[in-house]
Amino acid sequence: MGYEILTFISVTTIGLSGILILTGLFFIKTGRRELHKKAMISASFLALLFLIFYGIKYFLYPPKPYEGPYRELYLFTLISHSVLAAVNLPLAVVTVFLGIRGRYGKHRKIAPITALVWIYVALTGWVIFFFLNLGEVG
Ligand code: HEM
Repeated sequence: MGYEILTFISVTTIGLSGILILTGLFFIKTGRRELHKKAMISASFLALLFLIFYGIKYFLYPPKPYEGPYRELYLFTLISHSVLAAVNLPLAVVTVFLGIRGRYGKHRKIAPITALVWIYVALTGWVIFFFLNLGEVG
């Protein structure tokens, strides 16, 4: 599979997953539990797709170096994105598990952290994409 296609799938799935998290938050804030559940499970499914395609890309191609002028900012974004993406995986599993099991007390405690981390990871995924693809312009 081509590099461009894999990049396209990665940024699309991670971006949609972040948008679905925001949608799911909106649903629970407006009291629509069933829609909240559907949005969050869809977000998790897209994140899983992202992981699979990211894995394929990582396996097939060497990472693209950043050659623009904002090296420190780029590295900060990349490192915080990677660390929090790794943290997000167990957080997401526990949050969805607690939600599905109906353990809402615990779910409510951990879920805001998961949502925040998730949105940060999705947003910075896009930022990194822009760094790498608009780097020549900056
Ligand atoms: C990525 C996964 C999820 C995230 C980030 C998430 C996020 C949240 C957040 C932030 C709240 C608290 C809202 C507030 O207090 O204002 C909440 C509540 C809730 N979530 Fe989730 N959620 C997720 C998955 C699920 C799933 C799979 C279910 C399945 C049923 C679920 C069911 C609920 C319910 C019923 C509440 C309300 C609990 C209550 O009012 O006591 N959530 N969720």
